[in-house]
Amino acid sequence: MQVEIAPMTVNDLNEVVDIEHNSFSFPWSRNSFYGEIRENRYAYYIVARSKDDGRIIGYGGIWVLFDEGHITTLAVHPLYRQAGAGSFLLDHMLKKAHTKGARQVFLEVRDSNQTARGLYEKFKFKEIGRRKNYYYNEDALVMVYSFTSV
Ligand SMILES: CC(C)(COP(=O)(O)OP(=O)(O)OC[C@H]1O[C@@H](n2cnc3c(N)ncnc32)[C@H](O)[C@@H]1OP(=O)(O)O)[C@@H](O)C(=O)NCCC(=O)NCCS
Repeated sequence: MQVEIAPMTVNDLNEVVDIEHNSFSFPWSRNSFYGEIRENRYAYYIVARSKDDGRIIGYGGIWVLFDEGHITTLAVHPLYRQAGAGSFLLDHMLKKAHTKGARQVFLEVRDSNQTARGLYEKFKFKEIGRRKNYYYNEDALVMVYSFTSV
C-alpha cells in the first residue's frame, strides 16, 4: 500500500479519534487533538493516509521547543500495523524535529509496550529513566533520540 504524510487537520479528527480509541486504554479526546493542532504553536501533528482510498491509517504528534523535541503520540490503525507505517510516521517526525533545530527527541512509553519499545529501539532511542506510575498504574520509560550520535 502506498502511503503519504500530511499535516493533521480538523477534517481528520473523526478518523484519528477512532484509531485513538482502538489503540490506547486512556484515549485522548477530540478536543485534545483539536487544541494541539489549532492552538499549540510548538506542535506538529501528521497523518499517514492510504493513497489508494484516502483513508487515514495512522498519526503522530511532536512538540519542538528550541533544541528539544517531545513525541506526544503515535498510533497506527490495528488493521494496518506491522507494515511500516509506524516507522514512516516516526521517521517523518524526527526529520521535522531536526529541521526545526532539535538536537534530541524525548518520549515516554509504557513499560509493558514491547511493540512500541521495539520500534523506538530500532530507531536507536535509548532508555534514560523511568517515571513512576506515569500511566496511573504503570511506569513510563523515558527514551531519548540524539541526532548527534547518528
Ligand atoms: C507502536 C505502533 C505505532 C507501531 O506501528 P507499526 O506500523 O506496526 O510499526 P512498523 O510496522 O513500522 O514496525 C516497526 C518496528 O516496530 C516493532 N514492532 C512492530 N510490531 C511489533 C510487534 N507486534 N511485536 C514486537 N515488535 C513490533 C519492530 O521493531 C518493527 O520493526 P521490524 O518490522 O523491522 O521488526 C503500533 O503498534 C500502535 O499503534 N500501537 C498502539 C499505540 C501505541 O502503543 N503507540 C505508541 C505509544 S508510546
